[in-house]
Order: sequence, then C-alpha cells, then structure tokens
Amino acid sequence: MDFKSEVALLLSNATGLSMDTAYSSIEIPPQSDMGDYAFPCFLLSKTLRKAPPVIAQELAADPKLSAEWVEKVQAAGGYVNFFVHRGHFSKVAVSNVLSAGLSYGQAQDGTGKTVIVEYSSPNIAKPFHVGHAFTTILGHSLSRIYERLGYSVVRMNHLGDYGTQFGKLITAFRLWGDEKALAETPIKELLRIYVKFHEEEKIHPELSQDARENFKRLENGAPDEVALWTTFRELSLKEFAIIYERLGVSFDNYNGESFYSDQIPAVVDMLTEKGLLLESDGAKVVMLDEYKLPPCIILKSDGTTIYASRDIASVLYREAAYHFFKNIYVVGSPQALHFRQVFSVLDKAGYACAADCVHVGFGLVKFKDMKFSTREGNIVVLEELLNESVAKTLEIIKANAEIRNTDMSEDEVQDIATKVGIGAVIYTYVKSGRERDIIFSWEEMLDFEGDTAPYLIYTYARARSILRKAADQGIVSAWAQDAALALLSDEEEYAVARMISDLPDAIKKAQASHEPFMIARQTALIARTFNRFYNNTPILSGSDEKRKSARLALCEAVCTSISVGTYLLGIDVVERM
Ligand code: ARG
Repeated sequence: MDFKSEVALLLSNATGLSMDTAYSSIEIPPQSDMGDYAFPCFLLSKTLRKAPPVIAQELAADPKLSAEWVEKVQAAGGYVNFFVHRGHFSKVAVSNVLSAGLSYGQAQDGTGKTVIVEYSSPNIAKPFHVGHAFTTILGHSLSRIYERLGYSVVRMNHLGDYGTQFGKLITAFRLWGDEKALAETPIKELLRIYVKFHEEEKIHPELSQDARENFKRLENGAPDEVALWTTFRELSLKEFAIIYERLGVSFDNYNGESFYSDQIPAVVDMLTEKGLLLESDGAKVVMLDEYKLPPCIILKSDGTTIYASRDIASVLYREAAYHFFKNIYVVGSPQALHFRQVFSVLDKAGYACAADCVHVGFGLVKFKDMKFSTREGNIVVLEELLNESVAKTLEIIKANAEIRNTDMSEDEVQDIATKVGIGAVIYTYVKSGRERDIIFSWEEMLDFEGDTAPYLIYTYARARSILRKAADQGIVSAWAQDAALALLSDEEEYAVARMISDLPDAIKKAQASHEPFMIARQTALIARTFNRFYNNTPILSGSDEKRKSARLALCEAVCTSISVGTYLLGIDVVERM
C-alpha cells in the first residue's frame, strides 16, 4: 500500500469516513513544516456540528491516528497534519516498489470494465504528420495507464478510409498512376496523383464528374473500384505500420470510417423513428438547440453521409460490441465541437452511453529552430522528425565521452541513439498539459540535463551502472532485510523515497484527467531527487555495509520507478550509455 492509502486508512478508522472519501480528501501540504499529508477537517464539520479547528484538535489527539510510522500528528487551523517518520517511510516506499517490480502502480480500479481508446486514426493515402503523432503518443500512453489500473483496454484506430477523395484517387490513378512508385513509396505516390488531380481539375472540370462516379461505384461495391481502394488502404497501412513499430504502438483493430458506412441507414432509421431528423435546406439534421449547439448534419442534400454520421454509428457499434465503461477519442481540440454534437445527438436519442463518451483533445504542434522539407499544406512528416532526432542524438552521444561508455560497439551506440532520439520526441508530446500547443526545439528536447527523455534515460542508465558495479563488488541490496532500509532517513534519501512513493498516485491522477504529463512530471521528479542524492552521496563507498546495501536498494527502486514511468509514457530506457 502507498502512504497516502495508509494515512487514509487511519483517517477512515478514526472518522468513519469511507476509504475512498478519506483518500481523495488528503492533501499534500505545500511546505514540509506543515507535515507530509494533511486532512481538511471542514469535511466533517457538518456531520459533527463543530468548527473545523475544534475537530482538528480532537482528531489530532485520537490514538487511532498513531502508528509506528507516524512521527507526529498536529492540528493546524482546520487541518490535521501528518508527519511521517523518515526512515520508516523510506523503508515502506522502497519495499513497496521492489516487491511490485515492473508492475509497480498496478491497481484494480478497472476490474471488469472495458475502456475503448481510439487514437492515431490517420487518413489513408495521406502523410502521417506530427499532429497524428500527438494522438498516437497520447492514446498509446493512456491505454497503458488504463491497463495499469486494471481496465481492459481496446485500442482502436479509426482510419480515415472513406469519402469522396477516394473517387478522385481512383480517377487519378487510372490516368497518371505509377505502379512501381506505388509499391515503393505508396503515400508519396498517392499524394502526387492527388495533388495532380486538383491541378488538372481546374483545366478539365469533367474529371470531377468521373471522380464522383468512381466514388459511387466504390460505395456500391463495384469490384474494380473496391480493389483499387483496398490496395490504397493496404499500402498506406503498411507504411503506417513502420511508424507504429518505431513508436512501439499497436492496435486491436483498424475499423475505419468505411467500416461504419453501411451502418448509417440504421442510424437514419433510428433517428427518424424517434422524430429527431429534420429537413433543412435539403439536408437531414438533428437540432441541438437545447445543448446550445448548432444542428448536426446526418445526411447531406445529395443523400451522402458525412463524418458525423459515421461517428454516431461508431458509438452505437462500440456500445453493442464492447458495452464500454468509457469510449475515449484522442483527437485534436479543433474537433471538440464535432464530438459534442455527436455525443449530444446520442443523448437526445436516449442513449445512456453518450455520457460515457469522452473527447480527449490536444493542442497544436509548432517548431522553433527546425527546418523540414514540408510537403502539401505545410505539414511536417513524423518520419523526418524521428530521423532527425535520432541523428542528432547520435552526434551528441558520439561527441560526448562523458555520456557514452567508450567500449561500446557501433551497433549498441546506434541502438541507444535510436531509443533516446525517439524517446525525446515522445517526451516532448507528453511533458506538458495536452491542451497546450507544443513547441519542438532541438536544444530543449535533446538537453541531457533538462526536462527531457534523454535526461530520464541517462539517469536510469547511471543508476543501472551502480547496480552492476555493486554486483561486481558483491554488495547485496538490502530490501530483503527491512531493518536496514529504515537507515534511509537523511533528507535526500527521504526525498527520493517520497517521489517514488507518489508515483502510483500520479498514475491515478493521469488517468482521471487523461493527462499523461502527470506521470512525466513525477518521473522527472524521481530522476531529479535521485541525481541530487547520487551527486552528494557516495553510494558504494564507506565501511557501513548496512547503509550501503540500503542505498543500493533505494537505487534499485529508482530504476524500477523510472522504468514504470517511462513505460507508461511509451518511452524505452537503455541499460547503459
Ligand atoms: N482521420 C481524422 C483526421 O485525421 C481523425 C479521426 C478522428 N476520429 C473520429 N472518430 N472522428 O483528422
């Protein structure tokens, strides 16, 4: 159990509050002279009919709040402050981490609950750009966070594989397509003919008609058109798969927009039956005045379906197939209105599951000191960002003997640079609140001393090297002998123990707010406090064997915690540098 839960248990025993209420009311005081955990007594003033300071006085004196690890309990205004015994705290914190190992932070909150996380969702035949990387990285991290808390997670990739543009692509491919180029660099070739289509269309308007007809044939399942579309889709997916592999990302299914297209008539029938579908300028819409939203278009005036209708169908499908606890859409904030409309239509139609649909938005991606060969529409392709990051990391590692172990093979150095370089990109996406725009700057993201993945990975590798050295010297870590762990009572040791013990709480908060950055922040705090301790304390020297082995155990707990934190963010660590 983590300490916050221990405190909650004492409070629950003393006050009769439920564990959950007690746990969620506990605050972390801003200054250490106010204790390590605080309980706000105003929560009880109504039931006890007493002023909070009076309750605080009485509660602080309650013997039920005493425990071996509680140094003192003090009333301060309307708060009860808990001071935790340093050595004991460290002992519990370190053994909690080491007994859990890489499953540290695991909880059962989600047992029996299915959460759908939809993320990535790029468009077929279009480049995978840095905005798609944002949803991919966030969604991947959120999936792992939910899993850690015991939910069963379904990872969905809602591919943009449907729409009139595929009629255009078919027309364009028949006229100018290059089979060989399509096989080698599919997305590049598809983009080339797509751009050409739009240029040619200006001179030859009849092309638009041909494209429309091709799209109709595709919709009606004509074999030739379907075959071409299938090829475009498969080749695009093959290219996306390379990126997913580099990011370590995977999906349970790729039910894209096309998957839902034949479910739209049922949606239309349902909305009609409920009397919700109105005629407006030839289109069929659902009015959403009571939600203070503009009408949601379900069918366009030419009878074709739109993006929103496919999303409505997708919610109903997912509810039927998975009976989800939550259905999460990790999609950029510009689509916030779209999702509010979709969820509101379902709510209006009486579907309770509408309340369990969540749009997790995020900001824009910007660049400070980087030059990229931007393609159509000024987009930056993720692949180039990753390549550049790995190349620059390799330069840094090679030029810096302090970072790099000099006896490493070229392959190993390359492998490290790959993990660190890709980690640096991933971390930049998850280090701040997701609604904020992110700004890429090489100088910042590759700073081995900054708030970066290189810093975390480097710290991890350093801690691992201490463990290896200790093993060589025959020093054993103390975690099996609890008594020695209580020797970790210096402020710097306690600070590290405190940070690792707060990781499970950070994971829960990250889940509740869908903000992986809370884990990034906690992991960075663990690394910072550990480095401070490491720089000031000779871990493996001295003659006090017990103390050495206790410090070693702390070091091991730091490795495990950083490993868990980075794993939940989707970043790989390396064993040495
Ligand atoms: N394919 C869309 C895009 O690239 C994102 C799809 C988001 N998901 C959804 N269910 N609408 O912008």
